[in-house]
Amino acid sequence: MKLYEALADELAELMASGVLRPGEKLPSVRQQQERRGVSPSTVFQAYYQLEARGLIESRPRSGYYVAARRFAATPEPEVSRPDAASTLVDVSELVFQVLEASRAPGNVPLGSAFPSPFLFPLDKLGRAVTASMRHIDPWSTIADLPPGNAELRRQIALRYQLDGLQVSPDDIVITNGALEALNLCLQAVVRPGDTVLVESPSFYAALQALERIGLKAVEVATHPREGIDLGALSMAIAQHKPAACWLMTSFQNPLGSLMPPEKKQALVELLAAHEVPLIEDDVYGELYFGAQRPALAKRFDSKGIVMHCSSFSKCLAPGFRVGWAAAGRFARQVERLKLTTSLAAAMPSQLALAAYLGQGGYERHLRQLRSALAGQQQQMLAAIAAHFPHGTRVTQPQGGYFLWVVLPESVDALELHRQALALGISIAPGPMFSAKRAFRNCIRLNYGHAWDERQASALATLGMLACRS
Ligand SMILES: Cc1ncc(COP(=O)(O)O)c(C=O)c1O
Repeated sequence: MKLYEALADELAELMASGVLRPGEKLPSVRQQQERRGVSPSTVFQAYYQLEARGLIESRPRSGYYVAARRFAATPEPEVSRPDAASTLVDVSELVFQVLEASRAPGNVPLGSAFPSPFLFPLDKLGRAVTASMRHIDPWSTIADLPPGNAELRRQIALRYQLDGLQVSPDDIVITNGALEALNLCLQAVVRPGDTVLVESPSFYAALQALERIGLKAVEVATHPREGIDLGALSMAIAQHKPAACWLMTSFQNPLGSLMPPEKKQALVELLAAHEVPLIEDDVYGELYFGAQRPALAKRFDSKGIVMHCSSFSKCLAPGFRVGWAAAGRFARQVERLKLTTSLAAAMPSQLALAAYLGQGGYERHLRQLRSALAGQQQQMLAAIAAHFPHGTRVTQPQGGYFLWVVLPESVDALELHRQALALGISIAPGPMFSAKRAFRNCIRLNYGHAWDERQASALATLGMLACRS
């Protein structure tokens, strides 16, 4: 990481944690220069980067100030309070309806699960595909069965090492995206009729996975900033004797919540004490806005109960469909399930990603991606504060690219979705994220696309529709 980027990240972290407050003056360039021993151009570059992210603003002849957050008036949603009963899941029809209706290419994709494809180094990846196929060992096209391409698994193991974790390449199974990894991990530990604990709200594909194999869901209270409530989780374990727990500990979809490291540790200890396997969905972990990648819950796992699943779909290579599971003591079962489910992940994608990771441009790409997402989040929050009805609540995640918006009780999110779609705007209505179709006045918005006139006008239209409801 370059010096100016480290300085910018350090200051962004101080702003995120509230040490530097909106409207407060930043240390002058000279102060930074003298105290930190860095050059003026390093400080200027750091400040320019923060300005581009919308975090600070320059005032003529006065210096740099933490941006006055116009959205500071929009409060945070409250902790969810799902009822404690288990339920068979039946969300797929609603999810398919909403996704199909939203798919038209001309829509403003606020309901999409993907960030803009223009944020990814598709040209470099394309070159990596061509080069790796040119040098391919013909035998590898038929020999690289699960657990997957050895060089790619080695590269992934090296990234775990950077995150303070020792994971052997032999225990990593390459899959068709994270969704396959998650489904295989689930299958490895449950039988039809079992109960699985999930967050409230939870990622709809997790609910669909439970529905597919006839599992019961128990939705557990979740804090919009700090993730699942451990007291409620402990009670749910005692009451339901679950076969597994499926969570997102960093930048949860849809809340964006991030469990602090000590909470992740307590989570793993609680689950280990009751022998409940944890399926840790970590597809957004690389998209952090602070100084460091958040710790993985897997880092606190001494018993092998955590099955960590991730992919390159959200941070590097959408459409390549390369994900993986590091499934701890269940790794061999997951490997066999992979073989019997879809045999192997596509070879050209695996080879290209292994080559790309080996070249060393990944960190630079990630820094640019995070910086773009952080800036876009500020823009969308400001638009919500300006246009949404009184009584709106919204999350302010420290990573990822989703906002969870709680609208006044009078708003029906499914109706809002229909009205918005008629005007060419997609949103993700709250009931998609609950086995019990709760969150009827909530929506998830995607800020992963460049902020422009269309986005600004779509947010104003949405606000107007919500105000009229
Ligand atoms: C929370 C979450 N987990 C998993 C996935 C699936 O990831 P992949 O595209 O790598 O299968 C998604 C994609 O939307 C997601 O949002």
